Amino acid sequence: MNFVDLIIKKRNRQELTADEINFFIHGVTKKSIPDYQISAMLMAICFNSLTERETADLTTAMTHSGNVLDLSCIDGIKVDKHSTGGVADTTTLILAPLTASLGLPVIKMSGRGLGHTGGTLDKLESIPGFNVNIEMHKAIEQVNNNHIVIMGQTNELAPADKYLYALRDVTGTVESMPLIASSIMSKKLAGGADGIVLDVKWGKGAFMKNIEDAKALAREMIKLGKNLSKKVVALITNMDEPLGMNIGNSVEVIEAIEILKGHRNGALKDVSLALGAEMLVMGGIAENPETALALLEENIRNKKGLYKFAELISLQGGIPAVIDNYSLFPQRMCKSALISEEDGYIQEIDALLIGHAASVTGAGRKTIDDPIDYGAGIMLKKRVGDKVSRGEILARVFAENNEKCEAANQIIKQAIKIGSEKPEKKPLIYEIIR
Ligand code: URA
Repeated sequence: MNFVDLIIKKRNRQELTADEINFFIHGVTKKSIPDYQISAMLMAICFNSLTERETADLTTAMTHSGNVLDLSCIDGIKVDKHSTGGVADTTTLILAPLTASLGLPVIKMSGRGLGHTGGTLDKLESIPGFNVNIEMHKAIEQVNNNHIVIMGQTNELAPADKYLYALRDVTGTVESMPLIASSIMSKKLAGGADGIVLDVKWGKGAFMKNIEDAKALAREMIKLGKNLSKKVVALITNMDEPLGMNIGNSVEVIEAIEILKGHRNGALKDVSLALGAEMLVMGGIAENPETALALLEENIRNKKGLYKFAELISLQGGIPAVIDNYSLFPQRMCKSALISEEDGYIQEIDALLIGHAASVTGAGRKTIDDPIDYGAGIMLKKRVGDKVSRGEILARVFAENNEKCEAANQIIKQAIKIGSEKPEKKPLIYEIIR
């Protein structure tokens, strides 16, 4: 097979066969196709899309480009969860210990933050000593004994996706529905779980800017899972404003702990519990989402979720005392407050801009090798729809120096819009597609 013929075929809107797609992904994995030809193929897919059959074949080929994990040595139904990415999205740190405390085996492979979005691994590493580099046999032992492990994804898992994603990032080919769906689902399917709960986000801080695209992406991923007899449920959730109030690393862990202590309610808790409830139903621990929600609330009240989080920290080398003593987290002494200059109601808090502002404080990275400042970040004091008076604090910023605080403040100022009328709130959880 000559790869240029396949590029021309896709450029001319013809359907690629399963053999041709396998040849493409084999060439990516073995590095036998040069980057310029892969990029041309990605652009042709971006323009002309893929049929349902082609997307399924691409997903299968990417899933098998590396190891497919066999989790059969872990007792119980293994349920994974994936978010398509957002700002202040700390749901994993809340739902993983809560569902594990109810007996669900949670083996969670997470990623790092890039651009305006944060990553679970970076957040966990803000806990002094916490180790995310766990070998697979140790992870399996930990889940069998303690029901929970949160670790970095191994290099052998869907390596074709890793290579393609890096190329897509620099060739303007990320925003393609079949490419996003196959990228996410190949990693999840290679992860070996029996079922997957997806949080598909739409809005200013998400890949999908409108709800119809988010629903189409969700349906595509559900189909891909079903082809391989996996149970998949997708929640369509709003990401116009940041999900939680804290944006950064240690500040987001602190917010998760506050929710596990039962001290805080709001959007982050609501989405975490809704996702956790679907996981419990899929895992056979609860009969329906209502019962599951009650179980999760109960394990916030009785602190079992909080104790499970402390246990996880301890098992992976961290200091569990951070749970009661937040001063053990890395802290930034340089703080500033953004003050409202007018009376009114918060109309908008642009999640994308807030994500950029958090990056400017040092909490995020522009390239995958950039260092992270774990103690930097933002604490928002208001949400969309809240009343605000002139002189009130809108947000606090933590950074290494005044310049970074000031630069972040300028971006947050643009992100928060105030007006005289109370705005109508968009639903947080728009739909659950089963
Ligand atoms: N997340 C992924 O893992 N892949 C994409 O293509 C987009 C978001």
